Amino acid sequence: GAPVEVDVSGLAPGQMMTVEWRGKPVWILHRTKQQISDLKTLDPELADPHSERPGFTPDFAENEYRSRKPDLFICVGICTHLGCSPTPEFTGGPGLPADWKGGFLCPCHGSMFDLAGRVYKNKPAPDNLEVPPYVFSEDGTKVTI
Ligand code: FES
Repeated sequence: GAPVEVDVSGLAPGQMMTVEWRGKPVWILHRTKQQISDLKTLDPELADPHSERPGFTPDFAENEYRSRKPDLFICVGICTHLGCSPTPEFTGGPGLPADWKGGFLCPCHGSMFDLAGRVYKNKPAPDNLEVPPYVFSEDGTKVTI
Protein backbone atom coordinates (compact mmCIF):
# COMPACT_ATOMS: atom_id res chain seq x y z
CA GLY A 1 0.00 0.00 0.00
CA ALA A 2 0.88 3.67 -0.24
CA PRO A 3 2.86 5.23 2.61
CA VAL A 4 0.89 7.21 5.17
CA GLU A 5 2.11 10.66 6.17
CA VAL A 6 0.96 11.88 9.58
CA ASP A 7 1.38 15.29 11.20
CA VAL A 8 2.48 14.57 14.77
CA SER A 9 3.28 18.15 15.75
CA GLY A 10 0.01 18.56 17.69
CA LEU A 11 0.28 15.35 19.68
CA ALA A 12 0.84 16.39 23.29
CA PRO A 13 2.72 14.28 25.86
CA GLY A 14 0.40 11.54 27.09
CA GLN A 15 -1.72 11.62 23.92
CA MET A 16 -2.09 8.81 21.45
CA MET A 17 -3.52 8.69 17.95
CA THR A 18 -4.37 5.79 15.67
CA VAL A 19 -3.85 5.81 11.92
CA GLU A 20 -4.49 3.14 9.35
CA TRP A 21 -1.51 1.59 7.55
CA ARG A 22 -1.90 -1.30 5.12
CA GLY A 23 -5.31 -2.02 6.62
CA LYS A 24 -3.93 -2.22 10.14
CA PRO A 25 -4.20 0.18 13.07
CA VAL A 26 -0.94 1.93 13.89
CA TRP A 27 -0.62 3.73 17.18
CA ILE A 28 1.41 6.88 17.64
CA LEU A 29 1.95 7.66 21.31
CA HIS A 30 3.72 10.72 22.67
CA ARG A 31 5.22 9.29 25.84
CA THR A 32 5.69 11.55 28.84
CA LYS A 33 9.09 11.88 30.56
CA GLN A 34 7.80 9.69 33.38
CA GLN A 35 6.58 7.03 30.96
CA ILE A 36 9.98 7.03 29.23
CA SER A 37 11.91 6.65 32.48
CA ASP A 38 9.57 3.89 33.69
CA LEU A 39 10.44 1.72 30.69
CA LYS A 40 13.80 0.62 32.01
CA THR A 41 12.34 -0.49 35.33
CA LEU A 42 10.15 -3.07 33.61
CA ASP A 43 12.79 -5.27 31.97
CA PRO A 44 12.58 -8.09 34.56
CA GLU A 45 8.84 -8.45 33.99
CA LEU A 46 9.04 -8.77 30.21
CA ALA A 47 9.46 -11.79 27.95
CA ASP A 48 11.82 -10.12 25.45
CA PRO A 49 12.89 -6.79 27.00
CA HIS A 50 15.65 -6.13 24.45
CA SER A 51 13.56 -7.17 21.44
CA GLU A 52 15.99 -9.90 20.46
CA ARG A 53 13.38 -12.12 18.86
CA PRO A 54 13.44 -11.58 15.10
CA GLY A 55 10.76 -10.07 12.94
CA PHE A 56 8.99 -7.44 15.03
CA THR A 57 11.56 -4.72 15.62
CA PRO A 58 13.41 -2.97 12.76
CA ASP A 59 17.11 -2.28 13.35
CA PHE A 60 16.46 1.40 14.02
CA ALA A 61 14.19 0.49 16.95
CA GLU A 62 16.52 -1.98 18.65
CA ASN A 63 16.99 0.31 21.63
CA GLU A 64 15.33 0.60 25.01
CA TYR A 65 12.52 2.74 23.62
CA ARG A 66 11.81 0.64 20.52
CA SER A 67 11.59 3.87 18.56
CA ARG A 68 13.56 6.44 16.59
CA LYS A 69 12.88 9.10 19.23
CA PRO A 70 12.39 8.31 22.91
CA ASP A 71 9.19 10.33 23.21
CA LEU A 72 7.32 9.14 20.11
CA PHE A 73 6.39 5.49 20.09
CA ILE A 74 4.92 3.97 16.94
CA CYS A 75 3.67 0.41 16.65
CA VAL A 76 1.09 -1.79 14.98
CA GLY A 77 -1.86 -2.14 17.36
CA ILE A 78 -2.43 -5.83 16.76
CA CYS A 79 -1.72 -8.51 19.35
CA THR A 80 0.99 -10.97 18.30
CA HIS A 81 -1.10 -13.82 19.72
CA LEU A 82 -4.21 -14.15 17.56
CA GLY A 83 -4.62 -10.66 16.19
CA CYS A 84 -7.01 -8.83 18.52
CA SER A 85 -6.42 -5.13 19.08
CA PRO A 86 -5.16 -4.33 22.58
CA THR A 87 -6.57 -1.41 24.55
CA PRO A 88 -4.41 1.37 25.96
CA GLU A 89 -4.45 1.38 29.76
CA PHE A 90 -2.54 4.36 31.07
CA THR A 91 -3.60 4.44 34.70
CA GLY A 92 -4.16 0.86 35.83
CA GLY A 93 -7.34 -0.73 37.10
CA PRO A 94 -8.97 -4.09 37.70
CA GLY A 95 -6.83 -7.03 36.61
CA LEU A 96 -3.68 -4.96 36.23
CA PRO A 97 -0.65 -5.14 38.55
CA ALA A 98 -0.70 -2.68 41.46
CA ASP A 99 2.47 -1.01 40.14
CA TRP A 100 1.16 -0.73 36.56
CA LYS A 101 3.19 1.84 34.62
CA GLY A 102 0.87 2.09 31.65
CA GLY A 103 0.63 -0.10 28.61
CA PHE A 104 -1.77 -2.07 26.48
CA LEU A 105 -4.07 -4.90 27.46
CA CYS A 106 -5.40 -7.43 24.98
CA PRO A 107 -9.09 -8.12 25.63
CA CYS A 108 -9.01 -11.57 24.03
CA HIS A 109 -6.67 -13.62 26.23
CA GLY A 110 -5.10 -11.12 28.58
CA SER A 111 -1.71 -10.40 27.07
CA MET A 112 -0.14 -7.27 28.49
CA PHE A 113 2.33 -4.94 26.78
CA ASP A 114 4.26 -1.98 28.14
CA LEU A 115 4.43 1.47 26.53
CA ALA A 116 7.17 0.22 24.20
CA GLY A 117 4.91 -2.63 23.05
CA ARG A 118 6.98 -5.21 24.91
CA VAL A 119 5.03 -8.24 26.04
CA TYR A 120 4.96 -9.25 29.69
CA LYS A 121 6.20 -12.70 30.72
CA ASN A 122 3.87 -15.70 30.91
CA LYS A 123 1.28 -14.25 28.56
CA PRO A 124 -0.12 -15.94 25.47
CA ALA A 125 1.32 -13.39 23.03
CA PRO A 126 4.70 -14.76 21.90
CA ASP A 127 6.26 -11.50 20.72
CA ASN A 128 6.44 -7.79 21.24
CA LEU A 129 4.10 -5.64 19.18
CA GLU A 130 5.39 -4.94 15.69
CA VAL A 131 7.19 -1.67 15.01
CA PRO A 132 6.56 -0.66 11.39
CA PRO A 133 9.21 1.01 9.25
CA TYR A 134 8.87 4.79 9.42
CA VAL A 135 10.83 8.01 8.94
CA PHE A 136 10.48 11.56 10.21
CA SER A 137 10.43 14.65 8.06
CA GLU A 138 13.50 16.84 8.43
CA ASP A 139 11.74 19.24 10.80
CA GLY A 140 10.33 16.36 12.83
CA THR A 141 6.70 17.41 12.50
CA LYS A 142 5.60 14.57 10.23
CA VAL A 143 6.14 10.88 10.19
CA THR A 144 5.83 8.70 7.11
CA ILE A 145 4.87 5.09 7.75
FE1 FES B 1 -4.23 -11.03 22.28
FE2 FES B 1 -4.84 -13.65 22.39
S1 FES B 1 -5.18 -12.25 20.75
S2 FES B 1 -3.97 -12.38 23.92
